[in-house]
Amino acid sequence: MLKLGILISGNGSNLQAIIDAIAAGRLDARIEVVISNKPGAYGLQRAEAAGIKAITVKPSSFADAADPTHCYNDALRQILESCEVDWVVMAGYMKLLGSEVLDAFPDHVINLHPALLPSFPGAHAIEEAFAAGVPVTGVTVHIANERFDDGPILARVEVPVLSDDTLDTLEARIHEAEHKLLPQVLATLH
Ligand code: GRF
Repeated sequence: MLKLGILISGNGSNLQAIIDAIAAGRLDARIEVVISNKPGAYGLQRAEAAGIKAITVKPSSFADAADPTHCYNDALRQILESCEVDWVVMAGYMKLLGSEVLDAFPDHVINLHPALLPSFPGAHAIEEAFAAGVPVTGVTVHIANERFDDGPILARVEVPVLSDDTLDTLEARIHEAEHKLLPQVLATLH
């Protein structure tokens, strides 16, 4: 059984997709902990509703430390290690993950990106693909490293951009693709 630590920053729809896949027997895994960098993130409520340990770790809590970023990432590492997770999944987590976590889980940190990497990296991928007028965009699941949206690609799925798409309709189609792809990729891990 895969033991997962999930990092979120907001809505947590991809966390919910993992919760649902486990409940439906499509993913043989257990979510040991959900950690949000944002207090009040809706994904925390999703975790609590599913009976999953949900923790907020605010980067600003470490503002007075000599090296705030190091202390923040080390706090994440300590929680993840104490929960004895095998894999860390960045599901809508909008920060760069520090080497403190990456080195503690070498090649076992997964990131989800709403574009076909290496195209449209960064935090505005859907908007940029829409603005670029590409006929096809997509979703990528990859091993995370110390750079944004970099690292070995595990899977990608194409998502067509339709002529009558608005940004909202495209975004909805991309999230739908994410909610299918991420649990499918997690199911291949061991
Ligand atoms: C998703 O598109 C994810 O790929 C990106 O943040 C968005 C929100 O994800 N990183 P979620 O609803 O919080 O899972």
